[in-house]
Parts: sequence; C-alpha cells; structure tokens
Amino acid sequence: MASQEDNLKKIISHCKEYGFVFQSSEIYDGLAAVYDYGQYGAELKNNIKDYWWRSMVQLHDNMVGIDSAIFMHPKVWKASGHVDGFSDPLIDNKDSKKRYRADELIEGQLEKIQQKINKEIDKAAKRFGDRFDEKQFCETNPRVLVNQEKINTLNKRFVKALEENNLKELRQIILDQEIVCPVSGSRNWTDVRQFNLMFTTQIGSTAEGASEIYLRPETAQGIFVNYLNVQKSARMKIPFGIAQIGKAFRNEIIARQFIIRMREFEQMEMQFFVRPGEEMKWFEYWKEARLKWHHALGMPDEDYRIHTHEKLAHYANAAVDIEFRFPFGFKELEGIHSRTDFDLSQHEKFSAKKLQYFDPEIEESYIPYVVETSIGLDRMFLSILSFAYHEEKLADGSERVVLKIPPALSPVKVAILPLVKKDGMDEKAIQIFKELRFHFNCQYDEKDSIGKRYRRQDAIGTPYAITVDGQTLKDSTVTVRYRDTMEQRRISVDELLVEITKDVAIEHILKSL
Ligand code: GAP
Repeated sequence: MASQEDNLKKIISHCKEYGFVFQSSEIYDGLAAVYDYGQYGAELKNNIKDYWWRSMVQLHDNMVGIDSAIFMHPKVWKASGHVDGFSDPLIDNKDSKKRYRADELIEGQLEKIQQKINKEIDKAAKRFGDRFDEKQFCETNPRVLVNQEKINTLNKRFVKALEENNLKELRQIILDQEIVCPVSGSRNWTDVRQFNLMFTTQIGSTAEGASEIYLRPETAQGIFVNYLNVQKSARMKIPFGIAQIGKAFRNEIIARQFIIRMREFEQMEMQFFVRPGEEMKWFEYWKEARLKWHHALGMPDEDYRIHTHEKLAHYANAAVDIEFRFPFGFKELEGIHSRTDFDLSQHEKFSAKKLQYFDPEIEESYIPYVVETSIGLDRMFLSILSFAYHEEKLADGSERVVLKIPPALSPVKVAILPLVKKDGMDEKAIQIFKELRFHFNCQYDEKDSIGKRYRRQDAIGTPYAITVDGQTLKDSTVTVRYRDTMEQRRISVDELLVEITKDVAIEHILKSL
C-alpha cells in the first residue's frame, strides 16, 4: 500500500503532468511556497469559486459580494492587530539548521499521544467486535487513561504558554517532551522567537515620499472597512453578510505540503453582521451551512471533521475549523469564527469614524457583532484532488489514473472524439463540439487511439466522453462513456444536452443546500 507521503507525491506530479498546478518560476528553479495554476487548474479553481459565490451571494437575500483592493491603508493592520500580533513562534534546530513552528512541534506531540490512544481503541474494537463500547473502554482502560491524562496536562501547559505569549515556556515544553528534529534527530534547539508574517512593500514614486504598506494577509479587513459603505448603498438590514474572494499573502516560514501552506494564496471569506447577543445563534447556523456546502459535493462525510478551538484568538468568542482528511492526515480547510465587535470597534477607534448601525427594529445604535466563514480556495482545490485521485486496475489487466472530480466542478465537462479521423466522423464531431461548447467547457480530440484519448480525459477528470463513429453518420446516435464506471451508452445526439446537464449542472448541487 502506498504511504501517505507517496499519495501526496503522486498528486503533485499528476498536477504538473496534466496542467493543474506548476511550481512558480520553475525554469529559475522555482520560488518556495508559490504556485501557478495551469489550464485545468484554473478551470477547477473558477468552478469552486462559482459554487461558493453562488451559494453565498446568489442564494442569500441578505448577502452581497465585493472585491476590495489588496493594498490598504497601513493603519488598517495596526487596528486589526496584525502589526503587533500576526506572528508565528519559530525555533531552529542547530544541527540540521531547519526552522520549525514551535506550536506545530507541540501539536505534533499531542497528535502522537492521541494516536497511541486510537491504536488501543482499534485493537479493542477488533477484539470485542459488536460488543465493543468505545466510551466505556476509554473511561476504564488504564493505558488510555494514562495517555489521556498526558494530553490534558500537556495541552493545559501549551495553551497557557500561548495565551501568555511565553516563548521560554514553549521552548521548555519542547525540551521536556523530548521532541526531536525530524531531520537531524537531535534536541539541540535555539530559543523561540516571534516572526511577523506580513509582507511589506513601498507605495509612492520617490524614495523620500514613499511609504511602507502591507500586502493583505486576509481579505476580511477589506470587508470590515467597507461595511458601512455597503450597508448604506445596498440598504442592508442586520443581519446581513458581505462576501469576497481574493488573494492574501503571508510570509510563511515553513512551507510544506504543496498548496496547503502558500505565501500567496486565495481566500473565500464572508462576514455576517449581527445584533450583539445573537452571534452564537448565527455561529451555529453558519457552522451547519458550511458543512452542508461541503457535503453537497458528494465527498464522504468521514473525510470531514470539526475541530473546536480551545485557545481563541484575541478577537473571537467562539471558533471551529472544518478539517479535511488530506493524504497526510486531517488539516484545517475552513474556519468559522465569532469575531465579536472587535474589528469594527478597532477601526472606529483608529479611524475616528463612527461605524455604528442604527437598528430600526429596536431603535438602538450599536457596533454589529460578526460571524466569519473563511475558506482557503487552494486547500479546497487540494481536498477535491485528494478525494478524486484514483489508480485503478482494469479487467483487461491495464491500469488507469482517473480524477473522480465532482462533475459540476470538473475542468472539462465533455470530450468529443471521432472514432477515426475519416469518412466525415471528424466533421460530425466538430459540429457537435461547436454546439455543446455554448453550454459546457468541451474538448475536441482526434489524436491517438480512442483508448489513449479516454485515458487522457480520465486523467483530467472529464465526466463524459462522446464518441462519433460510423453509425452516427447513419442514425445520428453517439456513444456516451461515463468516466467513473466506464459504462458506454448509445444515445441520440438530440438527447446529449439533457443527459450531460443532469450531472454537471451546478444548479442541482445548489438546490440541495
Ligand atoms: N480571516 C480569517 C482568516 O484569515 P485563517 O484561519 O488565518 O483565518 C482562513 O485563514 C483559511 O485560509 C484557512 O482555513 C486556510 O484554508 C486558508 N489559509 C490560511 N493560510 C494559508 C496559507 N498560507 N496557504 C494556503 N491557505 C491558507
């Protein structure tokens, strides 16, 4: 069986070979943690954005979308807390010279202990079969209890150190837990230091007149500073939401796991403005709504889990992550945060502009509370590819790599293939192609054997392949081949539009939300 690392490597090389994702500036040996999306990657990304935008903006009466600038006034980031607090605690191993996030090393240690518990549970579940009671087992098994106690103690110490920003204590935890560098295997650690993740650049034409500004590390602040503009110009009444898709930049020190942690990435964020005191109701609403959005794509429920934050960011009074099972394990895909009135109050203070909302129902002015949903587009992209990538052995002994991308998101929806390029089959195929491309992203392909062409379409996740053969010219029927089952059906050319729309129309998914 392929290891988890192998699976990720296969996905990465597939992404390159078939034009989904390339290393940025590859001919110059690349730029770490920066990636370019190729011809199919760009299509898949656009389809994900479309699904998100339509589910948020089009399907909610009380939601509008904006597109704010990447550059913002530097005071925005002072007010939001990013200048002073948006940093990672870093530690170096003196032998390997590798740099790590201290909090991630400790989280890894917690995960290791948790895995010991999981192993005990798996063993017992096998031993006891149907009679197994997991809850009772966890409450009574001595080895589970000892490990659970270790987790609780370590977690308490860890959370306290983070809350107090106690870098010495973080280092001490790493030493006490005997955490070693995965590269050198040694425990020869430096001190822990904070490192701000924001990129800076200069704005203005002359050296003297230029001033330093930041590349936004999240899109959310563009929504906060525009909230009154939008509320007034769109005459929105609380509760209402503002959605946005856009680039964000973070100088991630540890770039790992492909497009999971990038220096330039894209976020799909939504801020929902609510009456103070009603934020928990909306927090629960959005948690459910966002889970439903993921599940509606048809990927297995067990590939998602909810992680509730114990240590809350300074601005939040509740937060959860929706995690996805990537090839290297569960990892955050989306965050849902109850951000209180922190951001708007800070902007009111720093800008000296009133940001209060007059609520006509209760005849009161207040600064709204905010519930945020924030999903990384690139992580969403990788979650789909992780689910979709399959290597299959076929009945005739051959193998195929197929991307079982949810059809509505597939980069190409239909391939139109003449069986051979003669006797008018190619002309008929081109005629069908020219008609269908008004409705879907289609591809016409006449090169190589039909088998090879099917494989190429499987590899990019095209759900339908239409073959035009000799019979087509007689009775205007074609064969439709279905990507996942490889089943082939003969249908009339006139039925194609309805047959294909059945599966690939995003409307069907949107209606199930
Ligand atoms: N406005 C809230 C916010 O930015 P976050 O948890 O820092 O919250 C939200 O980021 C989402 O953005 C994450 O759940 C993740 O999907 C994505 N994300 C964050 N940093 C990323 C990075 N360096 N590379 C790719 N995606 C990232």
